Amino acid sequence: MNEKFIEEAAEHFKALLKEQIERQERMEKAAVKTDFNSIPKLTIGLIDGDGIGPVIMAVAEKLLNELLKDDIASGKAELKKIEGLTIENRLALNKAVPDDVLAEIKKCDVLLKGPTTTPKGGSMESANVCLRRELDLYANVRPVSIPEKGIDWCFFRENTEGEYTLGSRGIELSDKLSMDFKVTTDAGTRRIARAAFDYARANGKTNVSIVTKANIMKKTDGMFSRIAHEVGESYPEITADDYYIDIMCANLVNEDIRSKFQVFLLPNLYGDIITDEAAQIQGGVGTAGSANIGDRYAMFEAIHGSAPRKVERGEGAYANPESILKAAEMLLRHVGKADKAERLEKAIALCKKEGRVVMTGHADGATAAEFGEYILEKL
Ligand code: IPM
Ligand code: MG
Repeated sequence: MNEKFIEEAAEHFKALLKEQIERQERMEKAAVKTDFNSIPKLTIGLIDGDGIGPVIMAVAEKLLNELLKDDIASGKAELKKIEGLTIENRLALNKAVPDDVLAEIKKCDVLLKGPTTTPKGGSMESANVCLRRELDLYANVRPVSIPEKGIDWCFFRENTEGEYTLGSRGIELSDKLSMDFKVTTDAGTRRIARAAFDYARANGKTNVSIVTKANIMKKTDGMFSRIAHEVGESYPEITADDYYIDIMCANLVNEDIRSKFQVFLLPNLYGDIITDEAAQIQGGVGTAGSANIGDRYAMFEAIHGSAPRKVERGEGAYANPESILKAAEMLLRHVGKADKAERLEKAIALCKKEGRVVMTGHADGATAAEFGEYILEKL
């Protein structure tokens, strides 16, 4: 029994290794970046997602339609609804992202996506993880800003490697032993490190914190840390510091020192965890936006999940759309429409300041749709 398992596992591992070596080699080839100034028509795909997804996406769609109405009317932009990325459809087809849905998605330039439900356990991969891989969205960029506390952080989370690459393809010996695999590559680390340092340079930041657990994950995180520092050497005006993820989690709640951090560069799983912490410090995971950026495509989404329990309680309509609107703002900036992003940002800030319509996330506050109307009024 064990012998057979070992043999099968070794074969499985061999296949994974081959595949990952090929992936690393593919990444080494120069990538072509989409130039949004030169594409004749910008196609923005809208994916509702599950749970509270359709509620918050309806608000985003309405506001994007208004902000982009001239471009849409003149055929320079299109908002394209992508159907079928629902948990029901995915489970029925046993596909993280059904083929026809992926084909539609690939016809878009950028995407705005509501949260999708990820089944726990089993072998069904998360739709997010699948899309990040299929569209090669290697940089997960998550800004957190609390001006009154001097906090202006931007997290650059590696988005296609680490624990996630093979997260659904570990091995199991009949419930007695389980192993997952973590992958770090030279090319994969270099490109996210460049994204972080380029951002720092373009935004007048002076420091990047490289955060790993290289004292324990010696091969993978060790490599990430080494290459990140090496990339940083090409940016002499920016200092690079090294931290372990555990103490960095503590630092973020340490009011004496946290405002000195500027840009964070981390492997996938640590980036996942710490960005929820950071969003909570900002006011909740409902307040943060998230960009998944690759060379060809980019996908923008709320940082939070689909909140199925909220929907079960009958409170779905009261879901806060702020996170998806932050994502929409990031999308507009990414495609070179910073003026429109600013209009949206200012309108939201105005609504929150004036407070005629207030969301609490529950039935004692406004619905997402009501809040959306309020923002529309202020645009
Ligand atoms: C995120 C989410 C995803 C992740 C889930 C939904 C797969 O938590 O975007 O941070 O783990 O990356
Ligand atoms: Mg997360």
